[in-house]
Amino acid sequence: MMLKVKNIDSGYGKKQVLHQVSLDVEPGKITALIGPNGSGKSTVLKTVCGLLPVWNREGAILFKDEPIQGNNPSSNIRKGITFSPQGNQVFNRMTVQENLEVGGFLLPKQEMKERIAYVLELYPMLKDRRKQMAGTLSGGEQQMVALARALTPSPDLLLLDEPSLGLSPALVNDVFEMIQQLNQDSGLTILIVEQRVRDVLKISHNAYGLRLGTVCHSSTASDLLDNPEALRDIFL
Ligand SMILES: Nc1ncnc2c1ncn2[C@@H]1O[C@H](COP(=O)(O)OP(=O)(O)OP(=O)(O)O)[C@@H](O)[C@H]1O
Ligand SMILES: [Mg+2]
Repeated sequence: MMLKVKNIDSGYGKKQVLHQVSLDVEPGKITALIGPNGSGKSTVLKTVCGLLPVWNREGAILFKDEPIQGNNPSSNIRKGITFSPQGNQVFNRMTVQENLEVGGFLLPKQEMKERIAYVLELYPMLKDRRKQMAGTLSGGEQQMVALARALTPSPDLLLLDEPSLGLSPALVNDVFEMIQQLNQDSGLTILIVEQRVRDVLKISHNAYGLRLGTVCHSSTASDLLDNPEALRDIFL
């Protein structure tokens, strides 16, 4: 497995959100995590990347068979896990180029330059706006900056939190296509949280359903897509 989450509890302050969450992410695959608002999807991603601690002793997060619970986010980036958070989380007062440099801050200078050049080739729209302040970009463009920033360190596992949020229907299709392309062209492993359930299941290999901080469904994405009853159960 690329990632193995085993029986983790987590939350904020005294508020427990995740209860014994377990999930597996296979290398080279897209795994979707879906569920209603407030069910804990973002909390799962934040715990995996090290922004939130695992609460319980028996809880474990294994990345390429190595325990990473308790690691801070930058050590996880070094190991190959990056996170593109929900909402337009770009540095508004920095240019597109500077946002990408922040994404690649752990890389040696020359490698950072090469990675940024590579990412800008992937997204020519950003190349044209390289010197523009990220805060003055449209919502869709900012989303693209957040994705590009997470790609700059050349991750093995990309955690994506609602990449389609706030985008117009035409752009939504583009974003899902971009994500599928990343997976197909470079074999990038992706764990993605999305409200657009059908769209995300179409590009995913495996799927988990989360309800009230508990995993309530696990199957291939196509099985879930063909199972309206299971879908209804997750969102009940
Ligand atoms: N920073 C925080 N401090 C305290 N509670 C939080 C914080 N962030 C989230 N929560 C709570 O944790 C629970 C799960 O939130 P989370 O953001 O993981 O849900 P989600 O499934 O991602 O929802 P959405 O689909 O709306 O993004 C919610 O009850 C939320 O209110
Ligand atoms: Mg969320």
